Amino acid sequence: MKDIEIKIHLQLKQDNELDDAERDLIEKAKQATFRSYAPYSNFSVGAALMLENGKTLTGSNQENCAYPSGLCAERTTMFYANSRFPDQKILCLAVAARDTTGEFTKMPISPCGACRQVFIEVFHRQKAPFKVLLYGTDGTYIVESPLDLMPISFDSSYL
Ligand code: THU
Repeated sequence: MKDIEIKIHLQLKQDNELDDAERDLIEKAKQATFRSYAPYSNFSVGAALMLENGKTLTGSNQENCAYPSGLCAERTTMFYANSRFPDQKILCLAVAARDTTGEFTKMPISPCGACRQVFIEVFHRQKAPFKVLLYGTDGTYIVESPLDLMPISFDSSYL
């Protein structure tokens, strides 16, 4: 038997430690929570991403009365970016969420497994990592690559 330990790297930054670009993208993700459609969970998630041409795009979670037909903010935003600008690399993605009280979460928002799988696909598709900013009022987690959010991930090399 072999014990294997996998290290991931993330930073936890307070608001005053963010650079201007990070702060701006987080603010856009926060604003996007107000455009969420979440009548079933009342959990409003917003995402904002920056493309290599400098454009920023935003999206939010979109729910459905047939629950699995809804989509998370992260995938809504990434699919939108890849469908509008298929040749533009994504450089950075910020995510923020407001819980059922209407307040932003204290803990950094944690993307679901399906969204992480899509991050990995984008990473391989664009052959470049992108930074992920996960906002919470207690601090923002920052990872430099989606691989840090999903080690031992499935990719097309298995097919
Ligand atoms: N949700 C997101 O949009 N992103 C996350 O990172 C976590 C969960 C959505 C899905 C659903 O609309 C609601 O939040 C509650 O799970």
